[in-house]
Amino acid sequence: MSAPEPTGRLADIVETARHAFRRSYLREPRYIVAAPGRVNLIGEHTDYNEGFVLPAAIDRHVVVAAAPRTDGTVHVHAVDLGESSSFDLQAINRDAAHSWCNYQRGVAWALQGAGHMLTGMDMVVTSDVPIGSGLSSSAAIELATAHAFELVSRLEIDGVQRALLCQQAENDFVGMRCGIMDQYVISLGQEGHALLIDCRSLEYRAIPLAQGPALVICDTKKRRGLVDSEYNRRRQECERGAAALGVRALRDVTPEALAARQGDLEPVTLQRCRHIVTENQRVLDAVAALEAGDLGAFGGLMNASHVSLRDDYEVTGPELDAMAEAAWAVEGVIGARMTGAGFGGCTVNLVEREALERFLTAVPAAYRAATGRDPEIYVCRAVQGVHRIA
Ligand code: GLA
Repeated sequence: MSAPEPTGRLADIVETARHAFRRSYLREPRYIVAAPGRVNLIGEHTDYNEGFVLPAAIDRHVVVAAAPRTDGTVHVHAVDLGESSSFDLQAINRDAAHSWCNYQRGVAWALQGAGHMLTGMDMVVTSDVPIGSGLSSSAAIELATAHAFELVSRLEIDGVQRALLCQQAENDFVGMRCGIMDQYVISLGQEGHALLIDCRSLEYRAIPLAQGPALVICDTKKRRGLVDSEYNRRRQECERGAAALGVRALRDVTPEALAARQGDLEPVTLQRCRHIVTENQRVLDAVAALEAGDLGAFGGLMNASHVSLRDDYEVTGPELDAMAEAAWAVEGVIGARMTGAGFGGCTVNLVEREALERFLTAVPAAYRAATGRDPEIYVCRAVQGVHRIA
């Protein structure tokens, strides 16, 4: 998993990491690893229902510079925070004073728990993935750490296993019950492609993204305050729905089967189930549309996904709704929807190239008028997943 010399923004953060490593440890780093953030094109909250998702890795990265140590300890310097923390691989505890380091500790804990023999290391970490915006900066930290451990410890871990171990670190060490989507696409993402992931079989298919339109991410700048408690509540509501319908997961329910059984469900449970069941179908339809070159159909499915997340799953909120509506009003926008867990964070937009200028003026203005907040806009590319930099 090596790539050509990095360019642009990535080259800059690689240089920052290299420089910080020298300053912190007075030696050269042996390995440099980059792990991208991610954006989900469609298939929201379906991963923990064993369904389908269509995310892509994006050109914002967490970069780790590392070199092995012989004493079984791990030293981590977080460049952007100006803080450091160390731990012993024989006795990994949570760090209450530096909660950011629980991602590195959790990954070491999960890798060792799976029987991998880890070597200690000095490492620095820096990033240009916006934090708390729903672009998976924490999963990128996990994957960069895992890959750095693979290199210093001379291990080869399969990409799906690596994703599962990072998810386990987040679920059982950090304490966030996320699904597999973020870690999976950051582990296995491909340049110019989205991944259609089957979150039950854990198989994927790389789907080429159309070259023409721009992939634009709009950050509402509303931080996702409610996300942990509401996320867990949605998971429980889905589990309740699956139990009432007598299936292992909502993946096993078709829109027709749900319609036939709707009288058996509480109104809120029915709403949650309807989102998941229709969203799974939308992912499959969206892939078919992309493969047929029908961008209009793809965009319509993105918009329908947002409406379903707003009305049935109830995870959007005024800021995400305002941002999606601002985009829908611009001519040349193919589709726009919230992306990630919701309650704040970002929308993802597919925009015709010739409409990009218009989009970059009109959407921030309309969003500002609706919410009083200044958004942040990123024009992105789909890139390869975690990899070593030569
Ligand atoms: C977060 C989680 C993912 C997924 C999305 C919603 O990003 O980490 O596993 O559930 O929310 O689709």
